[in-house]
Amino acid sequence: MTIFTLAHLSDPHIPPLPKPRLAELLGKRVLGYLNWTRNRHRIHRRDVLDALVADLQAQRPDHIAVTGDLVNLALAAEFAPARAWLESVGPPERVTLVPGNHDAYVRGAVPRFTQTFGDYMRGDGAATGFPFLQRRGPLALIGVSTAVPTAPFMATGWLGQAQLDALDRMLAGLSGAPLFRVLLIHHPLRSKHAHKRLTDSDALQAVLKRHGVELILHGHDHIHSTMWFDGPTGRIPAVGVPSASSIAVGHRPAAAYNLFAIAREGDAWRCDMRVRMSLPGRGGEEIRSLRLI
Ligand SMILES: [Fe+2]
Repeated sequence: MTIFTLAHLSDPHIPPLPKPRLAELLGKRVLGYLNWTRNRHRIHRRDVLDALVADLQAQRPDHIAVTGDLVNLALAAEFAPARAWLESVGPPERVTLVPGNHDAYVRGAVPRFTQTFGDYMRGDGAATGFPFLQRRGPLALIGVSTAVPTAPFMATGWLGQAQLDALDRMLAGLSGAPLFRVLLIHHPLRSKHAHKRLTDSDALQAVLKRHGVELILHGHDHIHSTMWFDGPTGRIPAVGVPSASSIAVGHRPAAAYNLFAIAREGDAWRCDMRVRMSLPGRGGEEIRSLRLI
């Protein structure tokens, strides 16, 4: 039996934050910059991120999913270091990316993000835009974008009708094929906080109930999370991870990532999840494992 291993990390919020140019400190970025200099620079650490990626690489996954928030304020100077970091994780053939709300922090950030990371968010056959579809081993990786600029203090996500319709058609086209379908999305499908929610989650859940996927991977909340959603024949697991660069603060745990071992058993899928963390100087450890499917 062949086992395909998919690793998932999210929300690296790659530190350090470069000093903004004065012209960049307008509107929402002023608040974000104050938040970074007061709090976030202590929470998101490069040594934490590097230890996590080193442990992930040592596990030799077949593929790696990264569900957004690479940058913090989407300053021009953040993009080159973010690209260098993602290349250190792996080449586009082995790494799939979807954007997060911080990657679309202000107007103008989305085109820059797309230009910088387009090859990590491209469908097979070089198709661009969202949703995109990549086949890797037994997987069909489907990437969507919930990243839209929002008002200060807001971190909501939005797919929009065009993307939902395209996703509906894409999933209909995959029906019947023996593929393990993984939806990559930055925002969780359910949120306790109105200012952080996916605003058209109900419409997405209706699409998923019609066609199904085997697994949903998301970030955004910076916590370990497993939720279940209705599919056409059973429940779909949706799994979130903490920020890949974070120390433990309050209710938010320290950086971790997940490994999914996926195998075909007769007519059905088996998917086992392992949660790993690796803090600087402590070495890597598995903190939880469970069978999802
Ligand atoms: Fe986010």
